[in-house]
Amino acid sequence: MNLSEWGKLPKDRQDRKLRQICDEVQDGVMPLSSYLPMHPTAKLSEQDKKTLCDWTEEERERLSQAK
Ligand code: HEM
Repeated sequence: MNLSEWGKLPKDRQDRKLRQICDEVQDGVMPLSSYLPMHPTAKLSEQDKKTLCDWTEEERERLSQAK
């Protein structure tokens, strides 16, 4: 995934990626567990995950309404 080229992705792929971003953090897959011991402040709280997932949901909603 190259976020610099986000705008070039078809809407259905953007929708899937947004869902995946939330899923990965909810399931604890991301940020990678191998990264966290060296970067403890990267650990996400439940509030952080909620903020991220609220955003992905809003963005998916916005996408579904855009032309
Ligand atoms: C909140 C933070 C993060 C989020 C939301 C996130 C999300 C994602 C997503 C959605 C993918 C799939 C990308 C794709 O479809 O091409 C991914 C892949 C990956 N991420 Fe993260 N990530 C995060 C943090 C990190 C960190 C801190 C690292 C490493 C230091 C990392 C390393 C990777 C790697 C290596 C992959 C590729 C894995 C594979 O394809 O098997 N991520 N991440």
